[in-house]
Amino acid sequence: ANSATAVADSRGGFTSRTGFILAAAGSAIGLGNIWGFPTQAAENGGGAFLLIYLLMVFVLAYPMLVAELTIGRLSQQNPISALRNLASGTLGKRFASLGGVLGVCALSLILSFYAIVAGWLVAYMLAPVFQLLGLEGLASWFTEFSVSRNLLMMLVIMLLTIFVVRDGVSAGIERWSKRLMPTLLALLVLLAIYILGQPGAMDGLRMYLLPDFSQLSPQMLVSAMGQAFFSLSLGVTGMMVYGSYLSKQENLPATAAVVAGLDTFVAFLAGLLIIPAMFVAQQNGVTIYAEDGSLLSSDTLVFTVLPAMFDTMGAAGPFIAIGFFALLTIAAITSTISMLESPVNMACEQFNQPRRKMSWLTGAVITLISALIILNFKALFGLVITATTVYAQPLLAMLYSLLLMWVLKRDRLLKELQQGNPQLEQTLFWKIWPAYVKFICPLMILLVFIN
Ligand code: PHE
Repeated sequence: ANSATAVADSRGGFTSRTGFILAAAGSAIGLGNIWGFPTQAAENGGGAFLLIYLLMVFVLAYPMLVAELTIGRLSQQNPISALRNLASGTLGKRFASLGGVLGVCALSLILSFYAIVAGWLVAYMLAPVFQLLGLEGLASWFTEFSVSRNLLMMLVIMLLTIFVVRDGVSAGIERWSKRLMPTLLALLVLLAIYILGQPGAMDGLRMYLLPDFSQLSPQMLVSAMGQAFFSLSLGVTGMMVYGSYLSKQENLPATAAVVAGLDTFVAFLAGLLIIPAMFVAQQNGVTIYAEDGSLLSSDTLVFTVLPAMFDTMGAAGPFIAIGFFALLTIAAITSTISMLESPVNMACEQFNQPRRKMSWLTGAVITLISALIILNFKALFGLVITATTVYAQPLLAMLYSLLLMWVLKRDRLLKELQQGNPQLEQTLFWKIWPAYVKFICPLMILLVFIN
């Protein structure tokens, strides 16, 4: 066997195309889709935001997704080695490694706040269970904001994530993605059908699907770009590491298209659930607008408005609530798994250590950072979110495409893309893709960013 195959064997990989697609879609599909997208759409002219978002995914995020997956698969190594090995010259290599290190750090920080939010979702899923059991005191402990609750719930999420990542790519990540992703889809569809049948839902549907172009603004472009980057897990090496486990036999652009398509489809479906739910809540007497006429903030929506609405739904209420927060929890966990995988894989390969040990160690470090955020919530929580998702993700994505521009030759890129897809070069899109990712993408990011 050649050495590339031997390396791939020893570091593991996805055993099937479906497994890869579900894991990568699991990374992509998260709170960004089910919570972020619908609330952004509701605030930004409904259907108009949807259209701009679709455009952003197609012209910017999808080509970048292909780029990150290609960097990973080309090297079949952890993101830092992958970037370093692609670079030439000492300075180039230093620069590329730095890009990898920054990406892994940003991803670890994303995990440290994401685990806190995911913990709240678990708490809100448990609360109605205790309510059904008549344990009111316990139920309200879970829904009240406290340092102890936040710490405990974050720890639950981190442990679950470590348990999956510890078992490796096929026995851990792939196996759990295959279980969780179909459950997620089923829950989402069932909940959307239920909500769409409630009085008031059609007002929400109208707001969501009829575009209000008067709200178009540069700010909306920036929001849509940020949303697309976050949703496709770009710029922070999460997709790069998944790409490194993708078999050379697979058609990478087609597989990436399925992942981007699934991600966008689930965001769209979530809009069919969340926006109508807001109007059902209003119909049931729950306030959804602030005094100044704007919609209440997205966290108020998830943790106050929707629970208040579930309370108005009689006997079905607690079950709908459990289903809804289970949906969000599953979406979050398939994302946290991908956030831990990249630092763990990096630690294993850079320090030549076993996966189990590095999963616990890396997980522990991130848990500590997360605890630090919880203990200094007011000062750190918002700051970490802004620093990672508003700045680091687009800027690092830009850096990776710039690296492609300097260090990778067009032929080598296309050769990698052609593995598993021999007819590739005959389509126009892929003829221009390398130049597109190198020149147009960074420019677009910069333009939107400066705005
Ligand atoms: N894409 C995930 C979501 O939409 C978040 C994520 C960001 C996951 C970065 C991995 C890396 O919630």
